Amino acid sequence: MVTYDFDKVTSRRNTNCAKWDAAEYLFGEKDIIPMWVADMDLPVAKPITAALIKRTEHEFYGYPLPVPFSTISAVINRMKRKYDWDIKPEWIVTTPGIVSALFTAVKAYTIPGDAVILQDPVYYPFWGAIERNGCHVANNPLKLVNGRYEFDSNDLAARFEPVVRMLPSPSRVRMMILCSPHNPVGRVWTREELITMGEIIIGNKAIVVSDEIHCELLFNGHQHIPFASISQEFEQNSITCIAPSKTFNLAGLEASILIIPNADLRDKFEETRKGFLPSANVFGMVALEAAFNEGDEWLGQFLEYMQANLKFLTDYFEQNIPRIKVIKPEGTYLVWLDCRELGMNSKELESFMNSKARVGLDHGIAFGPGGEGFERINIACPRSILEEALKRIELAVKAL
Ligand SMILES: Cc1ncc(COP(=O)(O)O)c(C=O)c1O
Repeated sequence: MVTYDFDKVTSRRNTNCAKWDAAEYLFGEKDIIPMWVADMDLPVAKPITAALIKRTEHEFYGYPLPVPFSTISAVINRMKRKYDWDIKPEWIVTTPGIVSALFTAVKAYTIPGDAVILQDPVYYPFWGAIERNGCHVANNPLKLVNGRYEFDSNDLAARFEPVVRMLPSPSRVRMMILCSPHNPVGRVWTREELITMGEIIIGNKAIVVSDEIHCELLFNGHQHIPFASISQEFEQNSITCIAPSKTFNLAGLEASILIIPNADLRDKFEETRKGFLPSANVFGMVALEAAFNEGDEWLGQFLEYMQANLKFLTDYFEQNIPRIKVIKPEGTYLVWLDCRELGMNSKELESFMNSKARVGLDHGIAFGPGGEGFERINIACPRSILEEALKRIELAVKAL
């Protein structure tokens, strides 16, 4: 058994690391602690490094198969083991990333002028995937009820009523991009919630593109359910997006998986990607397989560390910075902070976190209008870095 030392701090500066090396430029200050992009400051699972070294030593790096046989079995086995979901080899599509896959999916399944449902506040590239393809966002805003976000099913159903959604006719709602688990509010949707969403969307002849990139990042007591695994009808009317990139911190290796059970939807996606969206990187697929086949020992230790980091952060805010409220996440390693009691507008809050606290957070407003007054902090780092960031926020708040 390998024991990972997640307390150990390793400098990532000067390694072309977006999180650290772009921080000064992005946040306009020197000596910023970057806690923004969803990327960990923690060591990767040893079997991944070993598999990459082994592949490197072969010294031939030509074109890979778009969907290698060994990748197919790694994905099929993981879906079966984690969710008891049986998927077929031909449903598996590889892409270098999920965001590029979402842009391609909107292009494939809509025509300009159509509408796509989102649940604001939500991961900011979703908005671009819709708007840059000439479509409209049909917003089904999430509601904060007693410290936990919920979705409003009546409002979701109303997105299909042209008068209610006030979109230019003849725009049609073609799809929903679901974030499951949800970034940034940390919800892990329950089976009942997913069924309600699915019945509304599919009942209105639209499809669900379910971004499940955070599906293995779960806090104690929460279980992820792949949307498509709920029924054959859900399977045939959805696309599932997964990747090892968040769970195992492999975003720079560019390997993601789409599961598209419906042959028509798969053909449309393949047709649309031609010449624009390549398959995954050869090293990315090696890493994906090692992560999926041999990564669970590391994952267990990582999730335990995240649980402890979350407790540390929650206690810290409660005891020392009570004006900022923690929205307790059920999944992801991203924590949504309710800063509305500070009484600042978005610009003031942004400048406060950047220049007074000198902590590089993702500013809530970037996630949509529902993010006004919120900030998102990434806790996938050694505890000492988290502690230093919290101390800086505490000092800045106390100096107000
Ligand atoms: C919900 C969600 N989807 C997609 C991504 C990024 O995917 P990729 O790097 O594969 O494009 C992220 C990254 O944080 C995310 O939170």
